[in-house]
Amino acid sequence: MDEVEAAKQSAGIAACDFVTNGMDVGLGTGSTVKHTVIELGRRMAEEGLDIRGVPTSIETEKLARILGIPLLEWDQVERLAVTIDGADEFDSDFHLIKGGGGALTREKIVAQVSDSMVIVTDPRKDVPTLGEFPLPVEVIQFGWEVTSRHLQNICPGVATRRGGDQPLITDNGNYIIDCKFGPTIADPVSLEAQIRGISGVVEVGLFTNMADAVVIGSNAGTEVRIKPNGRLS
Ligand code: 5RP
Repeated sequence: MDEVEAAKQSAGIAACDFVTNGMDVGLGTGSTVKHTVIELGRRMAEEGLDIRGVPTSIETEKLARILGIPLLEWDQVERLAVTIDGADEFDSDFHLIKGGGGALTREKIVAQVSDSMVIVTDPRKDVPTLGEFPLPVEVIQFGWEVTSRHLQNICPGVATRRGGDQPLITDNGNYIIDCKFGPTIADPVSLEAQIRGISGVVEVGLFTNMADAVVIGSNAGTEVRIKPNGRLS
């Protein structure tokens, strides 16, 4: 296992400490949180951990089912105790860019119904200012060319449809437009609201004021940062 994968695995496993018996848990999407889901499955099978999950993508749903993690239907969900998910970037205010895997809308829906959000990540994603990672925006197919132009107008770099001529179709049947802001997103709260105000936009991969803790795996050990005055502090 290479260094980055080992870092992802250590973060993914360490984040399971936020999960205790009886919790309903949001299960994020991506190559880091996959290790969390696998570890939760292991603890259920080997240690009697008793939890139920809500997956944020078809990919995670399939993995959870293979591992035997019981999944809730939406009509059974009141609140979730915690969501554990990955991120593409995070800053010192615990604001995030997410959606590298195209699952941002489901991820935000699940995070919004959760009493806390824990991010699993590695040191490469710790940035002073968000935006080096192209900001994913999920848009409906109808009129996507126009929606994309609106995004282009506010984006200093290019805004391109993911997959080009063979566009990626999200789990919700939509497209993703990746917007290259560069590390310029000094006010992610305002930008999130501005992009959500464009018709045709389903959701934007800025997650502001949602994360309560970041678990950073590395070969030097795992660091847990808790947001001051957050829901886990
Ligand atoms: C998927 C996401 C992922 O959590 C994010 O892209 C991080 O993924 P990875 O852990 O594979 O780097 O937001 O939509």
